[in-house]
Amino acid sequence: MTGPLLVIGSVNYDLIFRHPRLPQAGETISGAELFTSCGGKGANQAVAAVRCRGGLSAGGGPGHEEPIRAPGSPADGAAPSVLFAGAVGNDAHAAAQLQVFKEDELDTGHLLMLDDIHTGLSAVWVDARSGDNRIMNSPGANGRVTAKALAPVPVEDAGLLLIQNETPADGVRSAVQRAAAAGVPVVWNPAPIDETSDPGLDPRQVTWVTPNEVECAVLLGRTGERIDAGSAADAAAGLLRLGYRGAALTLGPAGVLLAEPGSAPTLVPAPKVDAVDTTGAGDAFNGAFAAALLATGDSREAAAFGVRYASDSVTRHGTQTSFARW
Ligand code: RIB
Repeated sequence: MTGPLLVIGSVNYDLIFRHPRLPQAGETISGAELFTSCGGKGANQAVAAVRCRGGLSAGGGPGHEEPIRAPGSPADGAAPSVLFAGAVGNDAHAAAQLQVFKEDELDTGHLLMLDDIHTGLSAVWVDARSGDNRIMNSPGANGRVTAKALAPVPVEDAGLLLIQNETPADGVRSAVQRAAAAGVPVVWNPAPIDETSDPGLDPRQVTWVTPNEVECAVLLGRTGERIDAGSAADAAAGLLRLGYRGAALTLGPAGVLLAEPGSAPTLVPAPKVDAVDTTGAGDAFNGAFAAALLATGDSREAAAFGVRYASDSVTRHGTQTSFARW
């Protein structure tokens, strides 16, 4: 029996403003539609990993007849359980997230509730014409998810560690180092990434790195550029040269470019959908990809499953509110 999928990361409450035009500097725009959702990259990925599990055991999601679970795979017979570690304040936003975690039967035994600080809060602007978003958040309790706070979390017993950059860099670094030392595979979603949030990981300790077009450029030392479908294969090869053991570049509506040493990069195309809100689509991919990877050990299957799950999520509003229960 393999260990659980361990997700370490942030919890935010999302205030999502949707308008056909986003404000310029010094400009106020009134009349936006408002959506609220439990969010945060860590919590989103954990919730996605749990909600997609029906698709793992019942044929790869709605409309897909082929079973995703490879016969004889490590987790054959049972979708992995999901353990979440992070921190929230003792407030209404945390209560909302705890209710979601409870309904989704997530293991929250390592979620800290702190009395002296607020739950993370995000302002999300969604462009109603494209579904694209811009996000700014105040981390609150997420800032306390340090290496020291994570010391009791059983990283070494996990079947796979899924982690992002929305909690302190020293905590991310220590969790990845502990996982690598124990032989636990690591999926690192390098979001967000800048001088302060980059944990400076040893790429050889990362089994799969999952950047989007902007984050990939930063990892390659080309900050400000945007990788696109045309340059993705070269970019992925660049990540492998840095030492990452696998790369899954998320390319929005184009899908995901998968690269592993020794085989040609593969584009896993996304189905055509009418996107209304892309917020959290990367998280939907990461959660479903990690869950499928742990269940099947097959990266190509896992990426295709993650792409289907994420594509479905962009047809609904919000973050966790847009993740289907398969
Ligand atoms: O990836 C989307 C998430 O990023 C949102 O839920 C927001 O809270 C930010 O963390």
